[in-house]
Amino acid sequence: MNSTVQFASGEFVPLEMHKVRVVQKLNLLPVEERLQSIEGAGFNTFLLQNRDVFLDMLTDSGTNAMSDQQVAAMSVADDSYAGSESYNRLYEAIVDIFDTEYFLPVHQGRAAEHIISQVFVTKDGVVPMNFHFTTTKAHIELAGGSISELFTDEALKIKSSYPFKGNIDIDKLKAKIEKTGKDHIPYVRMEAGTNLIGGQPFSIANMREVREVCDTNGLMVVLDISLIAENIYFIRTREEEFKDADIKTIIRAMCDLADIIYFSGRKLSCTRGGGIATKSKELYLKMRDMVPLFEGFLTYGGMSVREIEAMAVGLRETLDMNMINQSPQFIKYLVDDLDAAGIPVVTPAGGLGCHLDAKEFLAHVPQLEYPAGALAAALFIVSGIRGMERGTISMDRDADGNDVPSEVELLRLALPRRVFTLSQIKYVADRVKWLYQNRALVGGLEFSEEPKVLRFFVGRLKPNSDWTQKLVAKFREDFPEGI
Ligand code: F0G
Repeated sequence: MNSTVQFASGEFVPLEMHKVRVVQKLNLLPVEERLQSIEGAGFNTFLLQNRDVFLDMLTDSGTNAMSDQQVAAMSVADDSYAGSESYNRLYEAIVDIFDTEYFLPVHQGRAAEHIISQVFVTKDGVVPMNFHFTTTKAHIELAGGSISELFTDEALKIKSSYPFKGNIDIDKLKAKIEKTGKDHIPYVRMEAGTNLIGGQPFSIANMREVREVCDTNGLMVVLDISLIAENIYFIRTREEEFKDADIKTIIRAMCDLADIIYFSGRKLSCTRGGGIATKSKELYLKMRDMVPLFEGFLTYGGMSVREIEAMAVGLRETLDMNMINQSPQFIKYLVDDLDAAGIPVVTPAGGLGCHLDAKEFLAHVPQLEYPAGALAAALFIVSGIRGMERGTISMDRDADGNDVPSEVELLRLALPRRVFTLSQIKYVADRVKWLYQNRALVGGLEFSEEPKVLRFFVGRLKPNSDWTQKLVAKFREDFPEGI
């Protein structure tokens, strides 16, 4: 199950347990053109054109490589609005893997969040959770509720060896229920592979405790399994009880503890789309009618039948440890390399990506000058690597129009599954190290166009001094012939 091998030199190196059979050409623009490109994008990596990007590490969402089996399955898709065989094959995979009798397909993860929030979140309802995800929070608030994050004290420590930073603090959960009153809590939400704190897992032991507290109080547990593959990997490698368990056993142990599970297929199954699953007919019926209203008929939910076929195969591939360990092991390789070079990076390595701590990396840039956004822009300029700001820009302003400093100020470098080779990862490490040595040259950003909701997607910024010119000049000095 471990595809990291020891070389004769003694070094441990992760191997790609697949071979490349279809490729996409990449461009690596000269540094001067990369500067123009990020200027054109309002210093927001979401607004870059992909043709200007060398390594797209913005996200793993919808950018994972499909397997030959998935592509083959797409060619036997059964095109029909209702009662498609493709849907039946997906449904069989869902029941087989998660043991949930009821399933609702949706067009992507946030559509599941929309339906769950609209159906269950009451006005002024509070949803306790390990940590929020941007779209989750937005949908709960749209439905009139709010979120309450009950992570443990270890969760936000950048340097840590704590294996389960995604755990909920059980004492905080009990206190929250006591204070809020269970009637104002629509459900408790757990997120596998907790995205915004660095792709960090929770343990099954912790989820069992959450379940117990919820049972005592008659509360539902909703589990976001978009990043379950990596959470499974970490349970298998870090939770003693499951060290020899097969993957299906681990999945069932997690999902059996939830009343409702939902996922983004853009992450979980290397496809697009998403779904909501439950063992409860009653819960299913409460949500069902939202699907034809917002997504599409119950046998496609806004997905193409080709994606549905690929999803069925992709979900089954999640059961293959050789497949799901590639991304965490490559992330570990990158994180350990940067950590050894003294670069502030979230440890222990999680799933999803490598997370640079911009607060520490750019300690001279005040938080309201958006260090994580500035780091994202600077890294793109010096390397053509596109990462994603996960800090204060990703928080919207409060009701009084004030910036809300984010608890963590991260630059996420996502590793889509089966996409990058080890030499590309070595290039990432090299350019991050160069930038760290030259970090004093990087300054802050300010907004020039700022949307009110989810401003990180399309907001435009500009540098608050001429630091970008200085950075390019230094790069040219160090790499006169290079790109
Ligand atoms: N839940 C989690 C844990 C996610 O990471 C995401 C998306 C969603 C829900 C929403 O799913 O995009 O299919 O609508 N995360 C992406 C990311 C966008 O880049 O981390 P979606």
